[in-house]
Amino acid sequence: MNSYDFDTPIDRAGTDSTKWAKYAGRDIIPMWVADMDFAAPPAVVAALQQRVAQGVFGYNEPTAYQIGAVVGYLERHFGWAIDPAWIVWLPGLVSGLNIACRATGAAGDAVFTATPIYPPFLSSPGYSNRRVVTTPLVRDDRQWAWDFDAVDAALAASRAKLFLLCHPHNPTGRVWTPDELLQIAALAEKHDLVICADEIHNGLIVSAACKHAMLAALSPEIANRTITLMAASKTYNIPGLGCAFAIIPNPRLRQSVHAAMNGIVPHVNLLGMTATAAAFAESDDWHAALIKTLRANASAVEQAVAVLPGLEMRPVEATYLAWIDARDFCRERSIANPATYFEHHGLGFSNGADFGLPGFVRLNFGTRRALLEEALQRLARAIANVPHSGEANAGARHLGAKREG
Ligand SMILES: Cc1ncc(COP(=O)(O)O)c(C=O)c1O
Repeated sequence: MNSYDFDTPIDRAGTDSTKWAKYAGRDIIPMWVADMDFAAPPAVVAALQQRVAQGVFGYNEPTAYQIGAVVGYLERHFGWAIDPAWIVWLPGLVSGLNIACRATGAAGDAVFTATPIYPPFLSSPGYSNRRVVTTPLVRDDRQWAWDFDAVDAALAASRAKLFLLCHPHNPTGRVWTPDELLQIAALAEKHDLVICADEIHNGLIVSAACKHAMLAALSPEIANRTITLMAASKTYNIPGLGCAFAIIPNPRLRQSVHAAMNGIVPHVNLLGMTATAAAFAESDDWHAALIKTLRANASAVEQAVAVLPGLEMRPVEATYLAWIDARDFCRERSIANPATYFEHHGLGFSNGADFGLPGFVRLNFGTRRALLEEALQRLARAIANVPHSGEANAGARHLGAKREG
């Protein structure tokens, strides 16, 4: 039994929720954008209430407590001792990806990443007139993996200046091992690249067999060419509060990042800072309970998918996202877009094509168990092509109102 409540429905339908608004009025369970249907940790809610009660919302500075919360979290969870001067506060990780593109190389240069990948990795380089160069991740008999020879060849051919790394990886859920990270770092050194390591999911390690190693903590040489991006937003479910940070030990690189931000990137809002500090410093018990819940959810999804013909997935090591290969199913049934097909069966997944890999869908299992079970039953019916009754009555009743009311 969890001592925190991840089961009582919280009605997000008809609220400001991006995730739930997409399917308003339709009987489709939203399992796309990466936020969870859980309330933030009690300590976060209490800290926000206390801050709001002051009633004054003037310009803010990071407080010693907020900085200490970040430093303490990195030391406690990942054994990485950072100098507070290395922290650059940001309103979001996607801003961080775009800033990293602008802070390295010049217009016309290449930025490398591997597919499938969280879509802003593919769009960010173009916003600053960089070219995106990719190689595919591959699957061995157990998991998703790197084809390092292909990466080496792509880096040599493109003369990229920046490597955008997602660790843990969205959407495959991989937690890259220290050995894999060292190989990436060796390629970065060989081709003289800056690595921008997006580690936003590093608090969401669901596999008991995996431990997250922060790339920059592996050696001072690696730290010297790395921009680490992080936030409390995914793990503690506060992405709407807009608070993230980069950690940049190299002063020249940090200076380039500041130069790319000047006059454009706003201060991080004080409620985001307040919530981040309470999440990092005061929510370890909640975090442990969350991981237990997500581990059980991941295993429910894996077991359900394992028995459905035409679907395949690898075990989730981290994140609350399942990356499902529906290509066999689509081929057999001549389905062009599995995400659209599943929507007609009451399931709102992300479309793999947006991640550079059509034929896949991404299922967000960061929701209460009863809703996940309903979704998995719908998935089984979709594979059996049983018509979805809710969709036949689309618009007649609001899913949220019906389920949560
Ligand atoms: C890998 C990764 N980076 C960045 C983000 C978004 O970060 P932000 O909302 O801080 O821009 C997400 C959200 O899903 C993500 O998965």
